[in-house]
Amino acid sequence: MRVLGIETSCDETAAAVVTETGVVLSDVVRSQVEAHAPYGGVVPEIASRDHARAIVPVIREALARAGMKPGDVDGIAVTSRPGLLGALLVGLSAAKGLSFTTGKPIVGVDHLVGHLLAVFLRRGEAEAEAPVPSYPFIALLASGGHTALYRVDAPRLSAIRELGATRDDAAGEAFDKTAKLLGLGYPGGPVVDRLAATGDASRAKDAVPRSMAHRESLEFSFSGVKAAVMRHVAMQGKPPEGQALADLCAAFQASVVGTLVDKAVRAAKVEGVPRIVLAGGVAANRGLRARMAEACARQKIALFVPSFASCTDNAAMIAYAGALRFAAGEADDLALEPSTKTALPRVTRKGAGLR
Ligand code: KG4
Ligand code: ZN
Repeated sequence: MRVLGIETSCDETAAAVVTETGVVLSDVVRSQVEAHAPYGGVVPEIASRDHARAIVPVIREALARAGMKPGDVDGIAVTSRPGLLGALLVGLSAAKGLSFTTGKPIVGVDHLVGHLLAVFLRRGEAEAEAPVPSYPFIALLASGGHTALYRVDAPRLSAIRELGATRDDAAGEAFDKTAKLLGLGYPGGPVVDRLAATGDASRAKDAVPRSMAHRESLEFSFSGVKAAVMRHVAMQGKPPEGQALADLCAAFQASVVGTLVDKAVRAAKVEGVPRIVLAGGVAANRGLRARMAEACARQKIALFVPSFASCTDNAAMIAYAGALRFAAGEADDLALEPSTKTALPRVTRKGAGLR
């Protein structure tokens, strides 16, 4: 089965062709980062307009790279939730148009489910034999829009359970906001990651507390870390480029990464599941990858980290999740509607007080 995936939930216009075994035949991602950078974050109206301009060429390119015509695909999978409504509508409209004209079936995919299954994607020879987790596994999804721990018992919505999520900012959002505060541009994750590698966290640890240290809870909170950096900058001024800035980035990153690692390992222990999968853009963070690998080795937990292209937003993960829905005999129709919310049941309420 060859499924065309379409993804427009946030600031990437993406299309890909993937088989139900996760083999990536093509994967095109067009980032809007330059359009949003001047504003230090994603501007929804700019995102929708840019998706509308890019969607047809991106889909054409994905089909061409797979050596296919629209009528050659066995089905169309499209991100229907969660995301920016106007942005989702562009991908949905394109998918419905293609489904209508080709007569091929359409399925909606929850973007978060796509991220959680991205570890099964196979990109070229290099990944053909890469180890994949068996079910169930614990997944840490950390991106610019979401941060949560899940128990994944099978590759379908009804078999995925949220164990805890962030009460406020997502981890990537904390990186982005902190970078903005320090004048490091957008998106902030990669820059902070680079600077942190040359810094010494212990020299700035008083400036940045550990984010929500309640060890028993599987919930996250990152707004305090961001506020601490804000207070530090308000009192001492923005550190000039150099060691002090690198130290501050290292302390911030150590705080966020330490919490992500501790809670993921705790989730694996509580659930009795010795397998952890990383997902989302923050999984690209070198500090997180290194600390997680150390912790998992110590605790005899198997760690699975998707390639960078599979961590950040892409349509291959959407095509794969959709292919599995088709394989299970499921399909939607042209009445498919977008939603800003995930279909996964949530246990953590955003903005909720301490439990
Ligand atoms: O998954 P993604 O591409 O898009 C969303 O669904 O949000 O994640 C983007 C987020 C941004 O907040 C970005 O700053 C963060 O991932 N990110 C990183 C790194 N690379 C990207 N955060 C920390 N370290 C990195 N190396
Ligand atoms: Zn995402």
